[in-house]
Amino acid sequence: MTEPRIDVLFSTEAIAARIAGLAGEIRDAGFGERLLVVAVLKGGFVFAADLIRALHHAGVSPEVDFMSLSSYRAGTASSGTITVLRDLETDVAGRQVLIVDDILESGRTLAWAKRLLGERGAARVGLAVLLDKPGHRAAEIEADFVGFACPDLFVVGFGMDMGHAYRELPYIGHVVDPQ
Ligand code: IMP
Ligand code: MG
Repeated sequence: MTEPRIDVLFSTEAIAARIAGLAGEIRDAGFGERLLVVAVLKGGFVFAADLIRALHHAGVSPEVDFMSLSSYRAGTASSGTITVLRDLETDVAGRQVLIVDDILESGRTLAWAKRLLGERGAARVGLAVLLDKPGHRAAEIEADFVGFACPDLFVVGFGMDMGHAYRELPYIGHVVDPQ
């Protein structure tokens, strides 16, 4: 099997600079007080890891927890059903919460997650995504903090996969002619 060609879309340096900027935006929006970062697994973990260190440099000391959600994509049919595969260990009641994920595309999963944490009593639930693909939105949701607007291409790297591969790439690449 030949490896697909992957062209760099956002470089390591560009991502680092943008994440530093995002951390300042998050602090300036008042998310600094008792902030709980909720990293959405699996795709959000690399972005979240860099973002919490950038938050440190911006003077914010977040707690971190993880959530794994089955997306509608994993089902045999697009039933719209979402289940929690790995739940938070942290009580979000009264907390400022920032959900961190890789891409906002249809928004179904993240809209569901945002509503869930609100129902659990979070004082405020924000959403930070590394990439926004606005062309395919199916749910009423926008991110509060966006790394980059992403063209309508299939991308990998920086936590994002194609068939479980390429999460480790230190840049965001566009898969050219995926099979
Ligand atoms: P949605 O917003 O519920 O449609 O789900 C977005 C999720 O789909 C992201 O968190 C990724 O896991 C996945 N996804 C969407 N577009 C891409 C892509 O270009 N590359 C890799 N994963 C993608
Ligand atoms: Mg995802």
